[in-house]
Amino acid sequence: MNNPATGILITFEGIDGSGKSTQARDIHNALSLAGLNVRLSREPGATPLGEEIRNILLSDKVPVGNLAELFLFLADRAEHVQDVLRPSRSNGEVLLVDRFIDATTAYQGYGMGHPLSLIENLHKTILQEIEPFRTFLLDIDPLAASERIRNRGEKKNRIEERGLEFFQKVRNGYLEIAKQNPHRFRVLDATLPREELNRAILNDLEPPLLTHAAGRRTGG
Ligand code: TYD
Repeated sequence: MNNPATGILITFEGIDGSGKSTQARDIHNALSLAGLNVRLSREPGATPLGEEIRNILLSDKVPVGNLAELFLFLADRAEHVQDVLRPSRSNGEVLLVDRFIDATTAYQGYGMGHPLSLIENLHKTILQEIEPFRTFLLDIDPLAASERIRNRGEKKNRIEERGLEFFQKVRNGYLEIAKQNPHRFRVLDATLPREELNRAILNDLEPPLLTHAAGRRTGG
């Protein structure tokens, strides 16, 4: 749970085109303006090794098999946890992460069909004491999400190319994970206006972040 002496980890999840990166940035700005010791990170690609892995995973540079894909996302995470999450926790920061463990469970587990138990066990080794306090799931119909991506005019990455049936599995996977972890998850309707989503997230975070800040002032 949330120990004020240590950091607090908040994650943002959702299928491609759900707008979760925009929300993560907005919340980072709002919390920075409020004077909190807050940092924004993301997966994959937050470390030097992660950047290389991200390039391999998202481009068509080299073919990547399904099992290798799973392990590459996990290698990126192991490095991220070691280089960013552990130090951030020790520094007592509020750390916002754009995609984390649930992305692998949803995309590689529910989406690609890798055993959920394998993913869970590998996560135990990678995470140890690290645990998200809150996860915001930006939920959206895959067709609407795909239209958003098209309207942005960006080229789809290797994973975004997978089509509606895949993203339906990923979405249902995310909703299932949320159902199994009701204390950690907040499921939000990603089609709501950006400001309304900002408000919902900030309202939800206010009480735990006040406790966290008070704990830091009194030294825990
Ligand atoms: P990215 O451009 O970062 O997408 P977004 O900005 O929407 O997060 O690309 C990351 C892609 O990698 C995205 O399609 C989701 C996928 N992904 C997985 O399949 N498994 C994972 O564990 C993670 C972290 C991401």
